[in-house]
Amino acid sequence: MASARGEFGSRFGFVMAAAGSAVGLGNIWGFPTQAASNGGAAFLLVYLVLAFTLAYPALMAELIIGRHAHANAVTALGELSNNRLQRRIGRTTGTLGFIVASLILSFYAIVAGWMMAFCLSSFATVFGGDEIASWLTSFGFVRNELGTLVFMGLTIAIIAKGVQDGIEKWSARLMPMLLITLVALVAYVLTLDGAGEGLKVYLLPDFHRALSPDLILNALGSAFFSLSLGVGTMLIYGSYLDDTQNLPLVGGLVTAVDIGIAVLAGFLVLPAMYVALHNGVEIYTAAGELISEDTLIFTVLPGLFGTMGLAGALVSIFFFFLMTIAALTSSISMLEVPVAYAVEEHGVNRRTGAYAIGGAIALVSTLILLNFDSLFGLVITVTTRYSQPLIGFVFCIYVGWIWHRDQLLQELRKGNPAIERGLFWKIWPWWVRIVCPTIILAIFGQSLLG
Ligand code: PFF
Repeated sequence: MASARGEFGSRFGFVMAAAGSAVGLGNIWGFPTQAASNGGAAFLLVYLVLAFTLAYPALMAELIIGRHAHANAVTALGELSNNRLQRRIGRTTGTLGFIVASLILSFYAIVAGWMMAFCLSSFATVFGGDEIASWLTSFGFVRNELGTLVFMGLTIAIIAKGVQDGIEKWSARLMPMLLITLVALVAYVLTLDGAGEGLKVYLLPDFHRALSPDLILNALGSAFFSLSLGVGTMLIYGSYLDDTQNLPLVGGLVTAVDIGIAVLAGFLVLPAMYVALHNGVEIYTAAGELISEDTLIFTVLPGLFGTMGLAGALVSIFFFFLMTIAALTSSISMLEVPVAYAVEEHGVNRRTGAYAIGGAIALVSTLILLNFDSLFGLVITVTTRYSQPLIGFVFCIYVGWIWHRDQLLQELRKGNPAIERGLFWKIWPWWVRIVCPTIILAIFGQSLLG
């Protein structure tokens, strides 16, 4: 069965693809600014602990279910079930997963379109096209729609090519490119005046702020989003892994790359903000907090690049190029979820499925753009704050409570015959059974309480 479906050709290809899914827009601006306003290095420490104690075990649950079934989430959860009720719940969860993945893609493509527009705008600046440059950075329906459609087109084109020729090939090209661009930008920004101040804010630990319960729950939520959990993306990527792979090891590599890139991005974004301050750009809100999220990316950083002349335009091109790549390796993993389902469950041709489903998602993006004020924030909240933790919860329950322990062990033994003697097997099975679901429920409860 596995060979008739796609399969990753190498461990490197898989790690690049799964890390590509995990490393996204969230890592490059979400993590650094959260760290800066919440205790610097102390936040980093809390984040590291949470990523390895919650996100990694939950990631393993998805990878193992996927690799065992060699199928999409709907089929896979159905197969693990022992009776009709479990089967129904499993299949419903899988179905919800692909709906949520599609909805996440519908807003992600809009934001990624902005990244591309800002990148092109800097090109236009270099070649003297100031009018086009300013149109590309102004919020308007036509610009937004065009950006979204071009980005969705790229995503669809890669997914239409399949696992090895599409996902693996492009992730293996784009991820090293992302790393090189990021390192080059960090190296350059650290040479500029003001950068040292940003480093201090990033690296000096303030445990008082980082250990507040509220913040810990928030960091849990972002660790979960950051590893692309709770939509079936990691499950479907796991399903394309061959049986010789040592799952705890590849899962650990993916987690390490995701965290590594987030930490590295901190060395770019924070120093860049203080260089901006040094150059006269405002980086604090009226309440005295550091400016974050969209204002940081689309106002503060372009403001900084604007004070740096030609060098600024070039840095801007690289920065928004970096963001576009990060978004693309994540968006392909989102589109793969519904496409794999359509191909496997309904016998749809992959190419047709990619174009039809991608096209439908682009329509949803258009709807969001036409009703931006009411829909954009709503879709983000419903998908990332509520749906992801809940679906992730069900994945953990299936692995921890429904799947027989000896079958689980058999699956893990495939790539690591001595797994029983290692620490992973001593801790993980009960961790995913008790600790992960409890923590996820706590995050969810916190989200409900606002
Ligand atoms: N992990 C991505 C990020 O940090 O930006 C977001 C993401 C990708 C969420 C893929 C969900 C998903 F299926």
